Amino acid sequence: MIDQPTIQRIHDASEIIDVISDYVTLKRRGANHLGLCPFHNEKTPSFTVSGAKGIYKCFGCGKGGNAVNFIMDIEHLTYPDALKHLAKKYHIEVKEAEQTQEQIDFATERESLMIVSDFAQKFFTKTLFEHKEGRAIGFSYLHDHRGISDALIEKFQLGYSPDQKDALTKEAQENGYKLEYLVKTGLTVQKETWTADRFSSRVIFPIHNVSGRVIAFGGRTLKTDKNIAKYLNSPESEIYSKSKILYGLFFAKKTIIQKDKCYLVEGYTDVISMHQASVENVVASSGTSLTVEQIRQIKRFTNNLTILYDGDFAGIKASLRGINLVLEEGMDVKVLLFPDGEDPDSYSRKLSSSEFLSFIEKNETDFITFKTRLLAEDSKNDPIKKVQLITDIVESVAMIPDTIRRSVYIKECSTIMDISEDILLSEVNKRRRKSAQKDKEEREKTEATENAEAIKKTISSPNIIRETQFEVEEQEIIRLLLNYGEKILVKEINEATNEEIEITTAAYIIREILKDELELTIPRYKKIFDEFQQLIMDNQSYSQKHFVNHEDNEITNTAADILSKVYPLSKIHAAGGVFIELEEMKLERIVPKTIIEYKNKVILSRMKDVFAQMLKAQETGDKVLFEELQQSYIAFTELKKQLSELLGGRIIV
Ligand code: CTP
Ligand code: MN
Repeated sequence: MIDQPTIQRIHDASEIIDVISDYVTLKRRGANHLGLCPFHNEKTPSFTVSGAKGIYKCFGCGKGGNAVNFIMDIEHLTYPDALKHLAKKYHIEVKEAEQTQEQIDFATERESLMIVSDFAQKFFTKTLFEHKEGRAIGFSYLHDHRGISDALIEKFQLGYSPDQKDALTKEAQENGYKLEYLVKTGLTVQKETWTADRFSSRVIFPIHNVSGRVIAFGGRTLKTDKNIAKYLNSPESEIYSKSKILYGLFFAKKTIIQKDKCYLVEGYTDVISMHQASVENVVASSGTSLTVEQIRQIKRFTNNLTILYDGDFAGIKASLRGINLVLEEGMDVKVLLFPDGEDPDSYSRKLSSSEFLSFIEKNETDFITFKTRLLAEDSKNDPIKKVQLITDIVESVAMIPDTIRRSVYIKECSTIMDISEDILLSEVNKRRRKSAQKDKEEREKTEATENAEAIKKTISSPNIIRETQFEVEEQEIIRLLLNYGEKILVKEINEATNEEIEITTAAYIIREILKDELELTIPRYKKIFDEFQQLIMDNQSYSQKHFVNHEDNEITNTAADILSKVYPLSKIHAAGGVFIELEEMKLERIVPKTIIEYKNKVILSRMKDVFAQMLKAQETGDKVLFEELQQSYIAFTELKKQLSELLGGRIIV
């Protein structure tokens, strides 16, 4: 939890042009800056930044918000982490408010699981560094035996879980953490009659999500007993899905972007050892084969993946097939083979850091070439194996989305395997046609079910169209609130005190809406409206900045959306580049007119509803209900007449 004054200081310091310029080249264009959107591929710039308003908006893909939202999106960070990121940039010290018992209780379930994981990590790390057993066993193993530096032990937040039944479980409960969450994260194993720590007597490798929060653990035993699993991992939970997480991605992502390349290794210790050798763009799949979700995580940062293999031939062969998935995602895959019996961890410790660096730079080969060579060697003089080899290679090449790259491979593989290019090409094309057909069938199937669901939804909720019928009017109300909320709209005499009071635009709008017991119907507008109301009641300021820099993403996005739209009537351009604020001068008339038009539309829609109900009541012969409805219909008609008079008569813009 970052305290409110610090959050404000960070917002104030984060000048949006400066923040975005770290990622996008911006050019001045009128009052705004313009650049190529970093969130989607575009050739002509539609990414607009307004320094004065402190917002950005892409007119191509729709992304928009304030400086903090930008950092959240581009760095894939949570709100607090984006704040911390900016705090670092502007050298602002972040004071984190201690979690109170109440806050611990109130957090959502996911948050609770992360909070308890964070506590456990701190407990394990403290044990490693400060307790006798932790130092003698855990620390000396990592530091002396594995050669991991203090700095890296701290960076990766490694730890040690004592050789006791329930040291962590007890300590956590004594500190107010609920057993429920300890069990749900898998830190505690609960059976009918007992509970125990899952990881006791193990060295702990916390697993972080992409924004650096601890979501799971791997624990390595130091015992050599073959019956004890070398690693124990957290079970799947609401915050941890093994197939989606790559170990080390949080610590690697910056360097992955910088080097435009990601190394993939197998284990926790491989990642840490590579950091020790100054290779920081490295992630681990944690001993399983890569999943599509993991590949996409990497692809957000780079298109170039190099897979590091230890020299175990059977293991390599087994993993080859999985790499087709990576090719299918259109990534450039390279392979690096370590000498027999070495993995990145052991080998990096044998060489100096510069020797290791030059080894990985010089020895990587293109994946398909590597695979073809490897299998060609294996199938020499064996026609059956050779057919299998061709099928294998054809399958990999067919996965590559890019035509030119495919034809380069076909040429190269035809030489290595000594097979005519034509045959390979026709096989690859056959395969592509087959999988295209399969894709099409699958697409049609999902489209059909999606259609059926959409129809079902429409039938079961006839209100679906109505939800958006006030879009234009409600957006206009919010636009006026955001742009002119604090401006004085009218002066009135307070009847009780006989004093003149100034009514702001926001106060006026809110009063008018509440007076007729109306509510905005579109949730994102209602949220902003309600917040205005709250701020006014609390006697707080309700500037544009408050909404643009709001911690609720929906609010900042909606505000940015509305404020970045060009409203043709709101400004005219005069000679010499001076804007004349036409609208602002006419607020006195524009605001009431907007409100009346809105009310008018609401009444019309309610009249339609009442009328429909009257028809139904007539059908069922419910006379009492019919008359009641008729009364309210007449009342509405009267109201509508009054409003029309206001619109057509006294109030003209
Ligand atoms: N692994 C696992 N469970 C096991 C063995 C391995 O989850 N019983 C995962 C771990 O994520 C491990 C990775 O597979 O990091 C690679 O396994 P291995 O090469 O055996 O482990 P190393 O990381 O090399 O560990 P060490 O060097 O400490 O033996
Ligand atoms: Mn190892």
